Amino acid sequence: MNVPKHVAIIMDGNGRWATKRGMPRSAGHLEGSKTLEKIALHAIDMGVNVLSVYAFSTDNFKRSKEEVDYLMDLFVKMFNTKFEKINKKGIKVVISGRKNHLREDVLQAIELIEKRTEDNQAGILNICLNYGGQEEIIDGAIKLAEDIKNGLDVSAFTRDDFYKYLYHELPPIDLLIRTGGELRVSNFMLYEMSYSEFYFTNTYFPDFDKSEFNKALFMFENRDRRFGEIHDSQNH
Ligand code: IPE
Ligand code: IPE
Ligand code: MG
Repeated sequence: MNVPKHVAIIMDGNGRWATKRGMPRSAGHLEGSKTLEKIALHAIDMGVNVLSVYAFSTDNFKRSKEEVDYLMDLFVKMFNTKFEKINKKGIKVVISGRKNHLREDVLQAIELIEKRTEDNQAGILNICLNYGGQEEIIDGAIKLAEDIKNGLDVSAFTRDDFYKYLYHELPPIDLLIRTGGELRVSNFMLYEMSYSEFYFTNTYFPDFDKSEFNKALFMFENRDRRFGEIHDSQNH
């Protein structure tokens, strides 16, 4: 099986999942966090090396204080107490995003989970928190500008070279999944998704289980990725 090395998920639909059941939006976020743990373990079992997930965008700060506070509390709880299975599985957890606007306890929990899992070798779980795709490119461009000021020669600089200016030097995304039915990328990993295959599903993220994930993998296997080339079979 041709397994995507880097899968990214826009975990959308938590709020609607809860509203549909007459529950507060927070209940959807809690359920979504359980789904994330299951999917991360499963993805590694399926041979995926890197799983990136969109947990909180820079624009999600526009939501009510109540919802933002709930999500931040949930991140702290997840990182401090709920990620033991992920750690035991040998998954290295990294967090991508801007550190400004984040509470002190959230920053501490981020530091701790990254430290606790840093030597793990089985795969990487990249959690995008206070993350924006355009922001990541801007932050990378600022770092690059600094290096240029210090004498870096960019006459032969390539798009591959820019990866080391991103938050973590992760490979390009092979498969991008969005749950929850919207057909947009909402400022997710714009640089890394340049040649991603897209998979959209109406399933709300809390209901996105192993078999839903496998459906996306099967679809991926049948896509013809050309990267701008023309494949032999089409030459005649
Ligand atoms: C995604 O679910 C999780 C976050 C953005 C934090 P939503 O909260 O956007 O759920 P919907 O899209 O309103 O259903
Ligand atoms: C994208 O979902 C962000 C996350 C999944 C964390 P949103 O619900 O914030 O995106 P829009 O508002 O539908 O574009
Ligand atoms: Mg949403």
